[in-house]
Amino acid sequence: MEVGTNRPLTPEEAAELTEECFDSFDAFVNRWPKPIRDWDSGQVVEWEGEGVTIKDITGRTFIDCLGGYGVFTLGHRHPEVIAAVKAQLDRLALHSQKLLNPIAYEAAKRLAKVSPGDLKRTFFTNSGTEAVEGALKLARLYTRKPKFVSTVNSFHGKTLGSLSVTGRDIFRKPMLPLLAVSFVPFGDAGAVERAIDDETCAVIVEPIQGEGGVHVPPDDYLPALREITRKKNVLLIVDEVQTGLGRTGKMFGVDHWGVVPDIMCLAKGLSGGVIPCGAFHTNDEIWRSFHPLPLFQTSTFGSNPLAVTCAAKTIEITARDRLPERAAETGAYFLGKLEELIERLPGVIREARGKGLLIGLEAITEELGTRLAHALFDRDVLVANTLNNPRVIRIEPPLIIERAVVDEVLGRMEAAMKAVRAAPSGR
Ligand SMILES: Cc1ncc(COP(=O)(O)O)c(C=O)c1O
Repeated sequence: MEVGTNRPLTPEEAAELTEECFDSFDAFVNRWPKPIRDWDSGQVVEWEGEGVTIKDITGRTFIDCLGGYGVFTLGHRHPEVIAAVKAQLDRLALHSQKLLNPIAYEAAKRLAKVSPGDLKRTFFTNSGTEAVEGALKLARLYTRKPKFVSTVNSFHGKTLGSLSVTGRDIFRKPMLPLLAVSFVPFGDAGAVERAIDDETCAVIVEPIQGEGGVHVPPDDYLPALREITRKKNVLLIVDEVQTGLGRTGKMFGVDHWGVVPDIMCLAKGLSGGVIPCGAFHTNDEIWRSFHPLPLFQTSTFGSNPLAVTCAAKTIEITARDRLPERAAETGAYFLGKLEELIERLPGVIREARGKGLLIGLEAITEELGTRLAHALFDRDVLVANTLNNPRVIRIEPPLIIERAVVDEVLGRMEAAMKAVRAAPSGR
């Protein structure tokens, strides 16, 4: 196929490209759990995105309730982010590595302004897993201790350090040995306290477990972790890769409970949905661990001008347009309506839960969840299962989604649930 043009395709070209894509994906790119052609007869080729919708190559339009696993807080191709990136691209695409990059400090300054407490210093990365890697290294440098405490069913990424603290054996076991980590149940502060020993350097936790199946902890959980980690002299690393930037109805997940962590990890939404950008973010004191040798952590592409332009613009737009508040309102409405649907149409979904626009629908069985996801796909709504808990379907639309579009999704959800209930099995 031609790369780098927006020339309109004829229907024949679209059909040809779809065929080519099916074959070439399995041949040249990573295989999905099954060959693409058999995996999902609804698999289509993505082509354009705008706001809360994404179109396939034939022009079929989906409402994006998957949101790139939480990337598209601002929606697809937010016009202000696109304009800023285009302007930057016309001036300097990637940084010299030698001269000072003014957008990097501007993005970091904006992050410090919206983040809780004394969090101030930022290292920009290219992804969530790198943000977690940096946080783990910084915690080790600061404490000079080797071990971590993490939670069962957590997801922190898949490079070796972040995989070490990811609480899912299916991904970890083939890669052992990894870093020394004790896993404790999510939501149980007492278990964290018991797991900390003299060798422990930090506790890492998601404020709300995303890939574990959208689990909101008890209200006293994060405040208790803050107290315990202070008392035991270990660091509290909060992974806000999925929950950050307004997703849960506050700027950061920890803001629901007024907790200031020692290190915060970000990515996904920080990209503005345009250029990948992650970060780990900490206070002056912990940051000083890098001072003896700032080269302890480096990245050629981290903090590149295009990425930090997106980060700076995203923070500006998220705060200015009060997107966290909007997510809280829309999310409460969405969740309430989903709960009504579940009550009216029992037998498919056991529970709807979440905060803001991070919503999980726990199906009664994995098969029912998969069938519901397919039925929604057939009705042009994109959703997906959570990675560590396939029984849970995530609903993570852009925070800019309008009430009328939520109502449209709810209508399609009702039809999809009825279709799943009507058919004994299969699609
Ligand atoms: C909480 C959390 N941390 C880390 C990651 C890893 O991010 P990335 O896929 O950008 O490496 C994810 C990805 O889903 C995540 O949800």
